[in-house]
Amino acid sequence: MSSLRLAVIGAGVVGRSHAQRIVEAPSCSLVGICDSDPKCQDVATEFNTGFYTDSENLLQQQELDGVIIATPNASHGTLASVCLTRGVPVLVEKPISDTLDGAHAIVEAAEQAGVPVLVGHHRRHSTAIRQTKQLLDDRAIGDLVAASLLWALKKPDEYFDVDWRSRRPGGGPVLINLIHELDTLRFLCGEIDRVFAQASSQTRQLEVEDSVSISLSLQSGVIATLLACDSTPAPWSYEATTHENPLYFESPENCYFFLGTEGGLAFPRLDIWRHDDPDAVGWQHPLTQHAQEIASRDPLEAQLEHFCEVIRGNAQPLIDARDATRSLAVAHAVLESIQTRQPVKLTS
Ligand SMILES: NC(=O)c1ccc[n+]([C@@H]2O[C@H](COP(=O)([O-])OP(=O)(O)OC[C@H]3O[C@@H](n4cnc5c(N)ncnc54)[C@H](O)[C@@H]3O)[C@@H](O)[C@H]2O)c1
Repeated sequence: MSSLRLAVIGAGVVGRSHAQRIVEAPSCSLVGICDSDPKCQDVATEFNTGFYTDSENLLQQQELDGVIIATPNASHGTLASVCLTRGVPVLVEKPISDTLDGAHAIVEAAEQAGVPVLVGHHRRHSTAIRQTKQLLDDRAIGDLVAASLLWALKKPDEYFDVDWRSRRPGGGPVLINLIHELDTLRFLCGEIDRVFAQASSQTRQLEVEDSVSISLSLQSGVIATLLACDSTPAPWSYEATTHENPLYFESPENCYFFLGTEGGLAFPRLDIWRHDDPDAVGWQHPLTQHAQEIASRDPLEAQLEHFCEVIRGNAQPLIDARDATRSLAVAHAVLESIQTRQPVKLTS
């Protein structure tokens, strides 16, 4: 099988991490890096590949099988359309866009061109997430009643030296980080029907929030909460607890809790708590903790492998533009609720 020719647009933190996986993967090769900042020539040199400051030049000069877009959120729509109209499949980083109009434009461009788009909600490729989904689908804790998600960590001060991360539109933890938790909640527990959110910018005093509390109702009748704070040193984030990203301190804690009619499940240690004796149920009886065998694999590597399968026509995107637009709509509903101080119902 011939090696797929891939390029990365955006040579920042995430673009470099994609480039690294491409050069390590047996099924594809990195034939170019594009970044509007000429200083990123160094990144292309490091990866021993061609450098372009303009995406049109990249697409004209290279015959590409696929492109990974890892630029700021507001540029995803334009860059994805440029690739799709040329028939080049795209893996676009999350969120699919900063606005719903931008997301719809990508959906339309993909559907008109008949070219696949995979969106970089890489947690859907996480083995811990997939095991959790299997456990919930298999009713390991009975019928799901509620879920509580916690995402708390301290972003280093220099994170905010990159201007777009602290400004609207595009910046802020709801669109940058919580879009992951919201997409994961949808993936694991089903569609979200209504949100009510409150936020505070008290710690950093930036235009964007640093703490958010969200109450969510799901179409299934399940209710959930998501509490997030990116200005506190805490061991309860997805990143710290799953050990999937070596940049993060490794915490032994859990960060998500699923409550069912027959027990509870803590993620990512995948501990199931339940009564073993059906005749001894209730708060006076001890719960038994059942540990699960946890498989582990780099989700970005798994995502790249899946993207290659999508390009070859062997798989449908695990999360396509339409699906990712739904996750973006939930994030926007959260932002709207913060602003209006009212619950927001999502259209189905
Ligand atoms: N999947 C994840 O877990 C994850 C994590 C962090 C960020 N992200 C997403 O990845 C994207 C990039 O984030 P980042 O933190 O790497 O940003 P970054 O600021 O570190 O890098 C972005 C790069 O894109 C370049 N760029 C901007 N506009 C461009 C254009 N029109 N054409 C070519 N290059 C352009 C910039 O010069 C910069 O080098 C964002 O959408 C972000 O939400 C995903």
